[in-house]
Amino acid sequence: MLKLEGVSKTYKVGAFARQDLAAVRDVSFELRPGEVVSLIGESGSGKSTIGRMILRLTSTTSGTITFGGKDIATLRRGALRDYYREAQGVFQDPFSTYNPVFKADRVLTMIRQSYFPDVGDADWRTRVREALAAVSLNPDLVLDKYPHQLSGGQLQRLLIARALLLDIKLLVADEVISMLDASTRIDVLNLLADLKERGLAVLFITHDLSLGNYLADQTVILRRGSIVERGATAEVFGDPTHPYTRTLLSSVPRLGERWTDTELEHGPCRYHQLHPDGTDPAGPALAAVGDDHFVACFALGEDRKCGQP
Ligand SMILES: Nc1ncnc2c1ncn2[C@@H]1O[C@H](COP(=O)(O)OP(=O)(O)OP(=O)(O)O)[C@@H](O)[C@H]1O
Ligand SMILES: [Mg+2]
Repeated sequence: MLKLEGVSKTYKVGAFARQDLAAVRDVSFELRPGEVVSLIGESGSGKSTIGRMILRLTSTTSGTITFGGKDIATLRRGALRDYYREAQGVFQDPFSTYNPVFKADRVLTMIRQSYFPDVGDADWRTRVREALAAVSLNPDLVLDKYPHQLSGGQLQRLLIARALLLDIKLLVADEVISMLDASTRIDVLNLLADLKERGLAVLFITHDLSLGNYLADQTVILRRGSIVERGATAEVFGDPTHPYTRTLLSSVPRLGERWTDTELEHGPCRYHQLHPDGTDPAGPALAAVGDDHFVACFALGEDRKCGQP
């Protein structure tokens, strides 16, 4: 359904935009209907950039992203609107999506104006109630309220309800639960699990491995813009092969701490000797190490393990 092929993004940074920053390098993976793919990596590894490129909020520098076989870069006006009917994103900080001057349910009204101008009032109220019920929100508690009167979890769920009004097929969930407290987290995770049951595909972006594990069929591990390991979640978590993945699994980040530039504890691996700072865009290609398990390593041993000297 959604396919990324060799997708890269280079930002122009520094004075006079003279420096190139390779935020995403040659990333390929697929998302099928009803599948949850978790995209895991530390801060700055390019996760949000990938989510934003999928939603056409940022252009790609190279590579293609197709949805239902169509290159999303070619979508114009009507076709782009149709794309957003099926693909929506919910981002890290729910507060930033809301305008504090307006009531929170304005996000729903705006959907009505753009997509359902002909739907009558009564019909619309029913649809809103159904969408709110799907995210376990009590309409009496959230409608007609200002953003500051609602909790982060409620605002986050309201954004998911907005997406559901559109009958979406793909949800890009970028760190949707990092800001929530533990019990609300479980609610939102369960909600995502329900959506998956309903056939929705979810790209679950997180820096928290334990959360990725909970939901995902497929796991993609990103380091400095490149995929270092990906495959069936059970295989990646059950037999982590890249030293980076192994390090991540042994050092689950602490809550509230910015997680960045994890030192590799496991190794040595020639990949890191050749690319100590990750500046070479042509890293090793992903090689199969299992039925549905790939790892990027120059030094794959006989036993299909990375990191053997
Ligand atoms: N608009 C931009 N202009 C220039 N550089 C950018 C821009 N957006 C992101 N970057 C850079 O690209 C890299 C990847 O950023 P990105 O936001 O995709 O990372 P992330 O994995 O989502 O991190 P986090 O976990 O902190 O959200 C970072 O080095 C970041 O500074
Ligand atoms: Mg991000």
